Amino acid sequence: MTDTTPIPTTPVPTEAVPSTSLPSVPVSFVPRRIAVFGAGYIGLVTGACFADLGHRVVVRDILPERIDLLRSGDVPFFEPGLGDLILRNKERLSFTLDVREAVRDAEVVYVCVDTPPTASGDADLSRVWAVVEALKDTAAHLVAVVVKSTVPVGTGDRVRAALDEAGLHHVGYVSNPEFTAEGSAVDDFLRPDRVVIGASDETTARWVEGLYAGVDGPVEIMDVASAEMVKLASNALLATKITFINEIATVCEATGADIEHVARAVGRDHRLGPHFLNAGLGYGGSCFPKDSRALRAMASNSGYPFQLLNAVIEVNELQPRRAIQRLKSELGGLRGRRVALLGLTFKPGTDDMREAPSAVIASRLLAEGAEVTCWDPMARPAPVEPWSSTTRHPDVPSALSRADAAVLVTEWPELVDVDWSAAARRMRTPLLLDGRNLLEPAAMLDAGFTYMSVGRATRHR
Ligand SMILES: NC(=O)c1ccc[n+]([C@@H]2O[C@H](COP(=O)([O-])OP(=O)(O)OC[C@H]3O[C@@H](n4cnc5c(N)ncnc54)[C@H](O)[C@@H]3O)[C@@H](O)[C@H]2O)c1
Repeated sequence: MTDTTPIPTTPVPTEAVPSTSLPSVPVSFVPRRIAVFGAGYIGLVTGACFADLGHRVVVRDILPERIDLLRSGDVPFFEPGLGDLILRNKERLSFTLDVREAVRDAEVVYVCVDTPPTASGDADLSRVWAVVEALKDTAAHLVAVVVKSTVPVGTGDRVRAALDEAGLHHVGYVSNPEFTAEGSAVDDFLRPDRVVIGASDETTARWVEGLYAGVDGPVEIMDVASAEMVKLASNALLATKITFINEIATVCEATGADIEHVARAVGRDHRLGPHFLNAGLGYGGSCFPKDSRALRAMASNSGYPFQLLNAVIEVNELQPRRAIQRLKSELGGLRGRRVALLGLTFKPGTDDMREAPSAVIASRLLAEGAEVTCWDPMARPAPVEPWSSTTRHPDVPSALSRADAAVLVTEWPELVDVDWSAAARRMRTPLLLDGRNLLEPAAMLDAGFTYMSVGRATRHR
């Protein structure tokens, strides 16, 4: 471990069940090895950070190409600092496809597999169950199974029952949801706002807390269901905050107020805070859309219609479509027009395109008969629709060449340094919809653009 400073903790709830059937492992327990299931964003960051904290870690995935890549020292996606962390800890970090090899020397298993949405909006837990199934005849020597994947409330109880049925009463169960954000995941893991540990017994909770020795953040210990709910509630509230400011921005556009002034002054209220108050094209990514739909589905399944979340999801789905409407009325139709998309990822600092608003915008433009060109410094869109019908350019000027309009979709910092005067001259019509309020309206007017943004003093010509 790099540091053994004790982490401030909250008391374990009094209703926590004493661990009579658990093996006698000291509270300051350091496992022989941690096995992480899933070598995606969360599994790799978790594995590499635990290795950096001094633990021996093995990461298991089912994708042979992913494991080959990791064994050869490469990282399958971009996450700042992750490649260095893996390299620095290569003595303590290994990768495998084999369940038995992963679990053999491990005492703790971390489940970090994906939980994508099903058609009903519920989380698809098939990968979580595949891991539980695989543990049934390999896990007798484990002290704990910890689920980091985002799962509906009640999943822990079901996994607990499955472990009990398999005779694994002595293996502790913990929900330890993850709150890291892509683009800052390593730092978020090592310096979190909080570590949430949900366990049905105090001993297992304290063991898992011990794994985080060296991490600089408060620990919240609670029951399993509450820990599962913390994750869903946090993401739903963040999605709500983004959606709220987008709605205010729309009202600003209609009334002449400026969202920049409004959001800055609103955010100075310490009860509200300045974060997640940037108006734009709506939230995307692998978590907010999926988790807000999963929470809505979970509430509906239990007979409660979550009205507020319904509105948040609906408004967010409309947000990129509003951009198309604005272009359409500005250009008098989109058929035969060339539109450049600047930025494709759901946010800068990542190559992740899951649920990115760019896909909705590209699909809508193509459906309206427009030609779509695009630029992104990091995205690797799969060769499927809409991307297979668009033209990718290696730089911004060539993406803008002879375009009738451009939409700034992702606030990549590179876009601030573009020579916009030269860019305007390359376009057929220098029209820019800045979907992230990244650029200075006055500078864009000077550069010769008709400039539109989100909720800022309507439209600048
Ligand atoms: N990405 C984020 O920013 C983020 C943040 C917080 C929480 N989460 C949650 O963490 C979980 C993982 O998300 P992610 O973004 O890392 O997903 P991901 O799709 O990037 O990675 C999941 C990995 O699990 C592997 N996998 C599937 N079945 C497996 C099995 N049986 N054994 C071993 N590996 C298996 C997949 O091949 C894949 O490599 C999800 O529940 C997600 O909601 C994600």
